[in-house]
Amino acid sequence: MNEFWSRRTCVILTGASKGIGQALAVEISRLLVPESAMILMARNTNGLENTKQMISKENKDIFVEYYSVDLYNSNALMFEKILEPIDQTKYELILLIHNAGSIGNLDHFAADMNDPEEWNKYMSLNLYSVTCLTSVFLAMFNTDNVEKCIVNMTSLFGIQASHSVGYYCVGKASREMYFRVLAIENPNINILSYSPGPVLTDMVEQMSTTKNDKLRKNMQQLRQRGLVKIEDTCQKLVNILAMRNYHSGGRIDYYDA
Ligand SMILES: NC(=O)c1ccc[n+]([C@@H]2O[C@H](COP(=O)([O-])OP(=O)(O)OC[C@H]3O[C@@H](n4cnc5c(N)ncnc54)[C@H](OP(=O)(O)O)[C@@H]3O)[C@@H](O)[C@H]2O)c1
Repeated sequence: MNEFWSRRTCVILTGASKGIGQALAVEISRLLVPESAMILMARNTNGLENTKQMISKENKDIFVEYYSVDLYNSNALMFEKILEPIDQTKYELILLIHNAGSIGNLDHFAADMNDPEEWNKYMSLNLYSVTCLTSVFLAMFNTDNVEKCIVNMTSLFGIQASHSVGYYCVGKASREMYFRVLAIENPNINILSYSPGPVLTDMVEQMSTTKNDKLRKNMQQLRQRGLVKIEDTCQKLVNILAMRNYHSGGRIDYYDA
C-alpha cells in the first residue's frame, strides 16, 4: 500500500483481545514493514495471546507485546510504564488506536441515569482512559521526528440518539468532541474518528439480547438488513488512513463514500 504503511511503525492498540480490535490488529500486521511493533492492551490475557499468535502467522518480522490492563482503573503512571520501553527513534510513525469500549447499562433510560458512580465507571473506561492515554502518548512522543496518528473508534451512536443506549451515545459523542478539540490545538497530529458500522461482536450480541424490547427489535431489524463484515470494516479503516482524505479531528463512517 502507499507511503502511510511503508514506514517503520509502532502501533498501540486498546481492546485487542477480541472483536474489531483483534481483527484490526491482524489486518494491520499484514501491512507493517519489518522492525515495526504492535503494543496491545485489554483485560483478557488469553484473548491477547490469541491475537499475538494470529499476528505472528501473518507477519513474523514485527515485535508484538501485550499488556493485561483494566481501563476502568487506568492512570498516567500505568500508561507511562507501558509506553516507556518504546524507542521512538526506531520508528517513523506511531499510531495510537483507541478501540476498547463498552456499551454500558442498557436497562437505563436517560431519565433514570441518576447515579454519578455508574456514570463515573462508564466514563472511566470510555472517556477518561482515552484522554489519559492520549496525554501520556503526546508527552512521551513529544518530537516532530516521528509522525503521530491517533484513531478514535466511534459509532453512529455518537451523533445519533437512540433508546436505552444513553451511556454509549454520550460516551462516543464526548470522545469525538475531545478529539476535535485536540486536533485544533495540535495541527501537527493526524487524528481520525472512525465509525466501523454495525459488526457482529460481543457488543452487538449484548445489544441484541437486551431486555429492552425496542432496542432488541431495532437490533433484530438491523441484523436482518445485514451487518458489516469485520474484515471489510478493518480494510476500510486501513485504506482511509493510507488515503488520508479527511480533516484531522473529523469523523468517517464505514458507509461514507
Ligand atoms: N461492533 C459494532 O457494531 C461497533 C459499531 C460501532 C462502534 N464500535 C466500537 O468499536 C470498538 C470495538 O467494539 P467491538 O464491537 O469489537 O466490542 P467487543 O467485542 O466487546 O470488544 C471490546 C474490546 O474492548 C476491551 N475492553 C472492554 N472493557 C475493557 C476494560 N475495562 N479494560 C480494557 N479493555 C477493555 C475488550 O477486552 P477485554 O474484555 O479483554 O478487556 C475487547 O478487546 C468499541 O469502541 C465500539 O464502541 C463497534
